[in-house]
Order: sequence, then structure tokens, then C-alpha cells
Amino acid sequence: KIYYDSDADLSLLRDKQIVFLGFGNQGAAQAQNLRDSGIMNDKILIANRADSYAKDAQSKGFIVEHDFEKAAIVADILFLLIPDQVQPNIFNEKFAPNLKPTATIVIASGYNVFFKRLSFSPQQDVVMVAPRMIGSSVRSLYQKGKGYPCFVSVEQDGTGSGLSIALALSRAIGATKAGAIASSAYEETAMDLLAEQALWPNIIMLFREAFSVLKEAGCSDEALCYEMWMSKEPAEIFERAAEDGFIGQLKHHSTVSQYGQLNGALALDGEPARAHFKDILYNQILNGKFAEHLSKIEPDLEKDGLQNPLNQLYAKAEETELVQAEKRVRGRLADLLQ
Ligand code: NAI
Repeated sequence: KIYYDSDADLSLLRDKQIVFLGFGNQGAAQAQNLRDSGIMNDKILIANRADSYAKDAQSKGFIVEHDFEKAAIVADILFLLIPDQVQPNIFNEKFAPNLKPTATIVIASGYNVFFKRLSFSPQQDVVMVAPRMIGSSVRSLYQKGKGYPCFVSVEQDGTGSGLSIALALSRAIGATKAGAIASSAYEETAMDLLAEQALWPNIIMLFREAFSVLKEAGCSDEALCYEMWMSKEPAEIFERAAEDGFIGQLKHHSTVSQYGQLNGALALDGEPARAHFKDILYNQILNGKFAEHLSKIEPDLEKDGLQNPLNQLYAKAEETELVQAEKRVRGRLADLLQ
């Protein structure tokens, strides 16, 4: 099911106090779109700790509240737009005890709802309005009068009006212009995490190994980096795939390339990859194992240097031949430009 502007009634938002928790990538874009859709500025409140994001919201004319408990008390609708890993603590401690019993909570990612990390009251609506775009594009496409892909769902219909409110909000942030797709926190989480934990890791690994094999065969750092990604060819291929079809885009390549790609892809045995993807999906993602692991290391993700496990992974990735070669190439390029 796809929802368009005509399915959404903006008047449902009249007189509602809308609170944005967070004014980052998504918060800044969605709050500005909503205001430009005719929601009065005094009906929008930005709940943000005192940091550069709060200053940005103030400079754009928004009313900012640093006290989360005060923001929670007035919210008819609450957009949860702070990073997923910090949402449970802040929402459960500061917002949940103070929110109105019939408030609507809007999530932009299914993660915390699917893994039941947020506490809601039974009469509250919990809806997902999840743009499939980075925040800057959510804003720029709206300004150009265009839509963008977005998932919508009702995860808890406490008032019975969850869907109509979700659609009104989707329209106000510009998401129903090109059609918002009915989805669910389950679907969004399964797809997102499988792409992040299986599909892209494999793509990173394939590039790393292809790089090493070609390097060993005598290809230069410069030639390899430009051939493989610095020319932006992969970006162009995906752009064409979105327009002309995943396989249809091959027609833009030479005959030698088309034959090589199709012949190679069809000859590969997909079974090992399928088994690996299933293992990650069922035994790491859907059973909550990854979420549990992440919640254990969450406090460390705020740390500096190598005490932060994410920085440890970056340090390990730095040691690979591909990253070392790219460093050398970028260094030589910078020298040339001086
Ligand atoms: P972000 O990283 O841009 O969030 C920054 C905001 O969070 C700022 O307002 C900052 O003050 C606040 N913040 C950060 N740490 C905090 C803390 N410890 N305590 C209180 N406030 C804190 O977040 P982003 O990327 O906009 O993500 C928000 C939601 O949107 C998430 O659920 C994410 O999954 C979802 N989403 C993000 C997309 C993106 O383009 N980045 C795309 C689609 C969905």
C-alpha cells in the first residue's frame, strides 16, 4: 500500500503541540519541512540539550527547550529524532513518565520499537514515519517541491487514530508527495540491519579482496583506487540501477562488460551467501543478539580514542592494504595540488 497527499488530512494537526526531540540530520530537516507546510512556529518545540544543534535550531527561529521533562509534559506529538542508541535512556527516563496518556510518539527507525527498548502507555499511539533518505535530502527535495521515499506504519494504535495522524505528519514533512510506503518496524529493522550487517560487509570484503589480488598481480595503487571507487563509477552504476533497473543498467556498459558481468553472476553459486545471510538474519539480528551486544557496549561508544569499540574497528580497518593504498594515493594527490 502506498499513501499519497490525498490520503492525508493536515487539519488533524491543528492545535497539536509538536515536540521534536533532536535537531540533527532528520530533526532539522523534518521540523523545517513541517513549519513550511503551515504548522505555526509556536506549535513546534525543539527539545534539545544545550549544544550546537540547539543553537542551530534557535538560529532558524525555533523555540528550544533544554529541559526534557518540561517538553514531555506539553507534547501531543513527539518526534524521537536523537540517535537510536541514546533513545532508550532519554525516552524512558525523561519522557515516558511525563508524556500525556494519549500522546503520539513518532519514530524514524524501527530498531528500538522492534526490540522493545522503549516504554509506552497502552493508550498512546506509536507510529513510524521513516524517510529513506539522509536529512539534507529530506529538506532539499521538499524545497524543490519533490517527495522522497518513506516508510509509514502504526506500531501501537492507542487512540484508534494512529494511521490518520501518521499520514498527516508524513504529509507535513513532505513524505507523501511521492508516495509513502506502508511498512512496519519489523520490516524496516530486518532490512536495515541485514544490509548493514551482511550485505555491505560482504561488499566491503569483496572490494578488499579484489584490491589485494589485483595489487599482487602488479596493478598500481592509483590505477586500482580510481578504477574501483574514486572515479565514482560504482555510484553511477547504482544511480542507473535506480533509474533503468538493477540488471537493465548493464546496457550502459560495453558488450564485453555486459557479457562478463552476467555470465559471471549467473555462474556463481549463491547458496553459501544465502546461508550466511540467513544465519545473520535469524541468529544475530531477529533473535536480539546484536541489539543486546550493542546495548552492553553503548556507554563505550561515547568514549574517545581506542577505548571506544567503534574506533578500535576503524583502527583495524586502517591496517588493510586497500586503506593504506588509498592513504598513499590521497597523500600524493594532496602534494600535487599544493
Ligand atoms: P543525529 O545523530 O543527527 O542526532 C543529533 C541530535 O541528537 C542532536 O539534536 C543532538 O543534540 C541529539 N543528541 C545526540 N546525542 C544525545 C544525547 N546523548 N542526549 C541527548 N541528545 C542527544 O540523528 P539522526 O541521524 O537524525 O537520527 C535520528 C533518527 O532518525 C534515528 O532514529 C535514525 O535511525 C533515524 N534516521 C536517520 C537517518 C539519517 O539520515 N541520518 C535516515 C532515516 C532515519
